[in-house]
Amino acid sequence: MLNKIAVIGGGNIGGVVVQEAVSRRLARNVALVDVKPPEFAKGKCLDIAEGTPVISADINVEGSREYDVIEGADIVINTAGVPRTTRPDGTMPTREELLGTNLKITDFVSEGIARFAPDAMVISIANPLDAIVYRLHMNLKKDRSRLIGMAGVLDSARYRLFIAQEAGVSVDNVQAMVLGGHGDSMIPIRSACRIAGMPVEQFVAPEKLDALEARTRKAGGEVVKLLGVGSAFVSPAWSALEMAEAIAYDKKKIMPVSTLLKGEYGVNGLFVGVPALLGKNGMEKVIEMDLTEKEKELFKKSVASVQKTADEVIAMTQK
Ligand code: LAC
Repeated sequence: MLNKIAVIGGGNIGGVVVQEAVSRRLARNVALVDVKPPEFAKGKCLDIAEGTPVISADINVEGSREYDVIEGADIVINTAGVPRTTRPDGTMPTREELLGTNLKITDFVSEGIARFAPDAMVISIANPLDAIVYRLHMNLKKDRSRLIGMAGVLDSARYRLFIAQEAGVSVDNVQAMVLGGHGDSMIPIRSACRIAGMPVEQFVAPEKLDALEARTRKAGGEVVKLLGVGSAFVSPAWSALEMAEAIAYDKKKIMPVSTLLKGEYGVNGLFVGVPALLGKNGMEKVIEMDLTEKEKELFKKSVASVQKTADEVIAMTQK
């Protein structure tokens, strides 16, 4: 059990993270910071704290508008930022279009982390995912093992679900990874997709797989469209907790995460989704996997779009 897990941003994703961290007894102390008046985070945490006797959880749950509430956290999960939401005309922004607003929030968040939890392991969920983690990295200058982004676990879960439904098998039987940036150019890696250890093509026809992979790339938008307000939040929260648990329990679990690449996959200085081993020291190792020529090509394209948004992050800093 960790001593403390802190969540930044008490919106839909942050709310589920706090609630689940308590019900999973992930840490003795769970803290939430949210600047929303009058005392939104306090109210949210009081609600959850008042339920702890019912679920027999001796956990201290504390919310505040002030960042000192995150002091001493072992793991910080950053959810602060506006989500994608449907516009009145029925269209929706890309994740990248959230950059201007969410970058300012991220700078504020960085100050809070630097001041009150400088040694914490940070998992970030805010969008545009890879660009926001990049900005946190610019601000916090943490070792890459201690700052990662959550996207691949969620994107892979979506791919796994769609394949499991099509093949008529348990989601447990489907192993799959989605790599690259957390945008429409993400790459479901078919060559590494297995059902109970067997190649996925043995169960699902190639044309069908094309369709499922296209759906995976747009899966975040599909939920935005259906909800009408906001974006997916339960599955992203569970995915971030999957990463937090791998670190808290030193699982040495391999999963796709947005991490700072230092030459791996031919990329240097950018946060991109690749398989990595998570354990008590955070992102302990980047795993290089064999990709087909086509997957390599798609990976390059995805990296180019991550680079474009990272360049915008740098340009916005210089203004
Ligand atoms: C999604 C958002 C959270 O993919 O990025 O649903």
